[in-house]
Amino acid sequence: MTGKYKITTIPGDGIGPEVMKTAVSVLEALAEARVDLAFEFVELQAGDGTKAETGTALPSETFDAARSADGCLFAAVGETAREVILPLRQGLDLYVNLRPVKVYPAVSAVARDVNMVIVRENTEGLYRMVGDRGPDWGVNLRIVTSRASERIARFAFDLAEREGRRRVTCVHKANVLTATCGLFVDACRKVAGGYPDVEYEEMLVDACAMRLILTPGHFDVIVTTNMFGDILSDEAAGLVGGLGLAPSGNIGEHHAIFEPVHGTAPDIAGKGIANPTAMILSTGMMLDWLGEAEAASAVEEAVIEVLREGRTLTPDLGGSAGTDEMAGAIVRKLAGKEF
Ligand code: NAI
Ligand code: MG
Repeated sequence: MTGKYKITTIPGDGIGPEVMKTAVSVLEALAEARVDLAFEFVELQAGDGTKAETGTALPSETFDAARSADGCLFAAVGETAREVILPLRQGLDLYVNLRPVKVYPAVSAVARDVNMVIVRENTEGLYRMVGDRGPDWGVNLRIVTSRASERIARFAFDLAEREGRRRVTCVHKANVLTATCGLFVDACRKVAGGYPDVEYEEMLVDACAMRLILTPGHFDVIVTTNMFGDILSDEAAGLVGGLGLAPSGNIGEHHAIFEPVHGTAPDIAGKGIANPTAMILSTGMMLDWLGEAEAASAVEEAVIEVLREGRTLTPDLGGSAGTDEMAGAIVRKLAGKEF
């Protein structure tokens, strides 16, 4: 590791640019605090505004910059999300959508004692966008392959081993979707055989949706197909304090893009009150992926300290601070850290 990274940023629409600015300020603070760490930023365009201006929501130079960067941060795009983030995920083969779900201190959350990771297959299922529509009918194809299912299962079990997690839950609907979910479950079972030290269980998606509410502490690592993972991870984010706190990573063999789970939040865009935490925690996940584990922990600790103090919180967390104020408080914590 050189410790010098070229970072592509894609701010997008709505609150996207407001929160992306805070991610850059966090990385700049880290580079300031550590002489061996440096970041070079390249900002690229995508989203509704870009489509209105240029006719395309994802210009090829943005795709190329995401591919050639050491790390890529994406904030959010609006109505063109399926024209931007899906082609990025599928085009760069970012086969894992990794969504950690934990309750941070002093956050008023529905659930307590939750620390799980949702590992969502990110390249196929219903989100391959293969379908058609007539005047009074519509069809979308659900595509599931053994190759993609086995590699996502392997990622989930490797993560469980690496992080000392005890259980992997495969979430499916194989009783009805016998072809696609049946194949997914077979793949997970096959992979589970190679990890005798990790407990393996299977759960129907509807039962899982309920158990997430009733006994969220049961879950450790969830591995599932694309759309189930999308829905369950928003549900899980709601359990632990809302979208303002939920980070994610789209990870492949060679590339990765880190983004908050939330969208462009049109209802608060332009007001300067978006919670920067999801974007900042996503930046921490990128640092971890780059191999900068200490910097990644420093970012998460700084966030935790600001949450615990409770003085500089955005309105979604019950405070009255603006985006820049809360991010500034996090940056000041980083400045005082040894790592
Ligand atoms: P959303 O995540 O933008 O907003 C849902 C609710 O959460 C809103 O009340 C919003 O104010 C709040 N919220 C979201 N992020 C927040 C933050 N950082 N701080 C405080 N409050 C926050 O989802 P919604 O409204 O369903 O979608 C809005 C637009 O975003 C749509 O055009 C959608 O297509 C797009 N979208 C894009 C995504 C992406 O770029 N990956 C993901 C999800 C939605
Ligand atoms: Mg979603």
